[in-house]
Amino acid sequence: DVTARFQAEMGKGLARDTSPTAAVKMLPSFVRSLPDGSEKGDFLALDLGGSQFHIHWVKEFDDGKQSSQLESKSYPTPKEVMQGNGAELFDYIADCLSDFMETKNLKHKKLPLGFTFSFPCKQTKLEEGVLLAWTKHFRVRGVQDTDVVSSLHRALQKHQAMAYPIPTGTGTNACYMEEMRHIDLVEGDEGRMCINTEWGAFGDDGALDDLRTEFDRELDLGSLNPGKQLFEKMISSLYLGELVRLILLKMTKEGLLFNGKVSTALLTKGKIEMKHVSAMEKYKEGLSNTKEILTELKLFPSEEDCVAVQHVCAVVSSRSAKLCAAALAAILTRLRENKQLLRMRTTVGIDGGLYKTHPKFAGRLHRAVGRLVPACEVRFLRSRGGSGRGAAVVAAVARRLAAQRRRLHTALAALLLPPAILWELRDKMRAELEHGLKRETQAQATVKMLPTFVRGTPDGTEKGKFLALDLGGTNFRVLLVKIKSGRRRSVQMYNKIFAIPLEIMQGTGEELFDHIVQCLADFLEYMGIKGARLPLGFTFSFPCRQASIDKGTLVGWTKGFKATDCEGEDVVDMLREAIRRRNEFDLDIVAVVNDTVGTMMTCGYEDPNCEIGLIAGTGTNVCYMEDMKNIEIVEGNEGKMCINTEWGAFGDNGCIDYIRTKYDREVDEGSLNPGKQRYEKMTSGMYLGEIVRQILIDLTKQGLLFRGHISESLRKKGIFETKFLSQIERDRLALPQVRHVLRQLGLDSTCEDSIIVKEVCAAVSTRAARLCGAGLAAVVEKKRENQGVERLQITVGADGTLYKLHPHFSRILQETVKELAPQCDVSFMLSEDGSGKGAALITAVAKRLHNVGQK
Ligand code: BG6
Ligand code: GLC
Repeated sequence: DVTARFQAEMGKGLARDTSPTAAVKMLPSFVRSLPDGSEKGDFLALDLGGSQFHIHWVKEFDDGKQSSQLESKSYPTPKEVMQGNGAELFDYIADCLSDFMETKNLKHKKLPLGFTFSFPCKQTKLEEGVLLAWTKHFRVRGVQDTDVVSSLHRALQKHQAMAYPIPTGTGTNACYMEEMRHIDLVEGDEGRMCINTEWGAFGDDGALDDLRTEFDRELDLGSLNPGKQLFEKMISSLYLGELVRLILLKMTKEGLLFNGKVSTALLTKGKIEMKHVSAMEKYKEGLSNTKEILTELKLFPSEEDCVAVQHVCAVVSSRSAKLCAAALAAILTRLRENKQLLRMRTTVGIDGGLYKTHPKFAGRLHRAVGRLVPACEVRFLRSRGGSGRGAAVVAAVARRLAAQRRRLHTALAALLLPPAILWELRDKMRAELEHGLKRETQAQATVKMLPTFVRGTPDGTEKGKFLALDLGGTNFRVLLVKIKSGRRRSVQMYNKIFAIPLEIMQGTGEELFDHIVQCLADFLEYMGIKGARLPLGFTFSFPCRQASIDKGTLVGWTKGFKATDCEGEDVVDMLREAIRRRNEFDLDIVAVVNDTVGTMMTCGYEDPNCEIGLIAGTGTNVCYMEDMKNIEIVEGNEGKMCINTEWGAFGDNGCIDYIRTKYDREVDEGSLNPGKQRYEKMTSGMYLGEIVRQILIDLTKQGLLFRGHISESLRKKGIFETKFLSQIERDRLALPQVRHVLRQLGLDSTCEDSIIVKEVCAAVSTRAARLCGAGLAAVVEKKRENQGVERLQITVGADGTLYKLHPHFSRILQETVKELAPQCDVSFMLSEDGSGKGAALITAVAKRLHNVGQK
């Protein structure tokens, strides 16, 4: 029951609406990471708020063994300091620190300082802590609601000591690593942050009233902070002895103990302490200790009195252990649920006098936790060097993370494209488009601007039954498309996906086309239409130079294809020959179209304003309707023709080399066509994962990832497919899930690793989307100028796995177009049916024209 109540309290403390009034504060600590063993350096640590005030000098060694050396000294905290004023307290701390540095010969050094301040503090960053309220025996005036770090700073400056105190709230409560997305009060969803629960205040809103006894109430009324820290008062070492005293007092008054005789000592607050309770509960000497202690209190105990008193001690301290276990069980359950595990193994770091010195507390706590959360296997680890060392480690971790961030940003800086560069790229693309269209320059142009002999978008009069092939994207498809015109205008499609094995993609041309025809034969068989000599449209998503709609000479393979004896050949002829070789059926190949053209047509069937086709998939490319008068290499000035830009080759003349990074060069060198398709290699699905992999290798070499170890999987080319990028970058995808994706790829990552990987993916895909946006802005601007209008309304038909499946690509692309082509209102239309439908529509038109021509 207490576990459930505490679970509810944690939820309240974390949620935005309920946190202001929550009793359990759940304070963000801005500690975002646990040590990973690579921390190193010298640190100082102050530890204030426990039973003693310590100063430590910690040396962390980055020797792979996580070893450290600790030199410490404790100082008294006199009552006048604990209950005086703030200036005195901080001066005193500074005095002690000066003394420590003097004795350790550290005066000349400026070391980072961690500050364990074991009181509830509100933090908005690591190096700040606004005291919410004093607890335990402290009640220093003028400190509440102020930042203890700056007060300490001021005092230290007077002593000319060092900078960077960092408070960490540890001490007698509990903290744990919470998922950032559950912490409403701190910006950001990524990663985890340590939450200082301040569970001592559990019950301050009455949540434990039914469990509090008259003794708890009495103890509270006599404390420095009545009504506050009620849970702490039931469990912490500071109050245990006092609870025992109050119970003994009542029992004595009722004549149940010591013949009813109360001594002055028994009436005096604070006379029984935790150390006495511990001594009385000792296994063997317990009874004689009890006698001694009671005698000291002038109580003259009988044998039975001693046994009874021992029993009281046991009841009070077991209750403490069990309550502590109940709250801990709530935290463990939360952790397990956050990690979405059915069973969880974890370690609880634990410290404090009660746990360390009471003979039975630890055992009782462990057993109770075991019973309450059977789904968690918990190891309790006693903290070595106290929380002071922890504060030093926090400082060390913070330092490591800051250094890591800086290096990560340096590595990713080269991928950032400031607006000025994007405008420049837009203009360069524009210039390349012109070169490709002009007679004198087109031979040398890198952006080839291939005429497609498609002269119009669909008008709804298309009809008939057609076959289509769709080759060159992620999937190879064969389709049957039935188009109806008129009032019952509709398109019905049947399709089948076939695999193209790598050895066929990169074998001989004959093998490739034989394979295609084999798939066609299977499909005709499957559909039961082998006998019909249907017209066929061939979506062939590679650059082809066309002299008519049914002729296409392959300029050069791109993406993952490299079949021999195809470049410079007419792919329609190659297909016809393969059909002839098979000698099983005949087909009428009417049109060969690029996938961009097919996509534009597919979308154009729905929206006549669609005059641009965009593919952002395995490869990237754009086509658009150009005015005939601007296409110098095709006869005629009337009307329009669709131009397949083949913009993937943008930059092959070196004009965008200044934005290419060493990662891009590496990807290019490892590709099938080095030096070619430079723009495509920075923007399309086939390459983005490879860029990510190159960056990850580099970061790992720099020791920023995977503990500096480059695993076998990371060495594997192509492990990062676009679909993984899309998965990793999904919003609000919890890091455990990112780690799961990485694990599928054979990459064993820590939580911090997964954050970095996600950032790298985002940097790479954002750059791709912005680059693609800059290119598209050039195209729409050109269209606007062609039409000679102030504002252009235009639709872009878009397709491709990157565009469709990536969680941010299409949005960033669209934003970039808006930014770089402010005079164009561009609508984007997703091609749902693929380019096969468009190819069939083109075939329908070509067939009709052909028939008209024959007549
Ligand atoms: C498909 C089209 O939907 O998208 C293909 O039908 C095109 O013609 C492909 O090539 C592009 O996307 P991807 O991601 O498969 O290369
Ligand atoms: C490659 C091809 C191009 C195709 C694009 C998208 O860039 O060269 O023809 O349109 O990929 O699939």
